[in-house]
Amino acid sequence: MDCDVLYKVVVIGDSGVGKSNLITRFTQGKFSKDSKPTIGVEFGAKTIEHEGITIKGQIWDTAGQERFRAISAAYYRGANGALIVYDITNQETFNNLNKWFKEIENQGENGCLNVLVGNKCDLDHLRQVQTEDGRTFAEKHNVSFMETSAQDNTNVDLAFTSLLKEIY
Ligand code: GTP
Ligand code: MG
Repeated sequence: MDCDVLYKVVVIGDSGVGKSNLITRFTQGKFSKDSKPTIGVEFGAKTIEHEGITIKGQIWDTAGQERFRAISAAYYRGANGALIVYDITNQETFNNLNKWFKEIENQGENGCLNVLVGNKCDLDHLRQVQTEDGRTFAEKHNVSFMETSAQDNTNVDLAFTSLLKEIY
């Protein structure tokens, strides 16, 4: 095995919030301006070093759109962590967070660690969700929080690596 530990991380949130681009940014250093909606499940992986240990993150990506979604029980099975993503330029994606938190509570593994991510922070001029509102929501649910940009590569590594380290 090319790693000491392997953790499964699932990425969830509404369609278009940037889940797939966060993953390709983290695992391949790539961003696509015109990416297609995900259909079914896709995977990415990246290995990080932490305290002399090699941690492999296996990152699961599924569709935000209900009709394209994989069967959620299988998607969540064995997940060690979850990145719950909204789009700071789209209030509705923030309003729908309750649904995503409920789903992870109902379907996720006990002890699955969650982090809340407000993506597209490069588009500050189009912002509909204040940073403070994201932080307050995260505190209420007792999870970490950060704003990211898959486009500018802001906090993307931090979001994934801090989650993987927290799991460890
Ligand atoms: P589904 O697969 O349908 O659930 O969507 P998704 O959450 O995977 O979204 P995706 O990564 O496909 O991104 C949707 C659109 O938002 C694309 O046009 C991306 O280029 C754009 N996008 C993603 N992240 C960012 C970001 O950080 N900043 C900006 N400006 N655009 C972004
Ligand atoms: Mg996608």
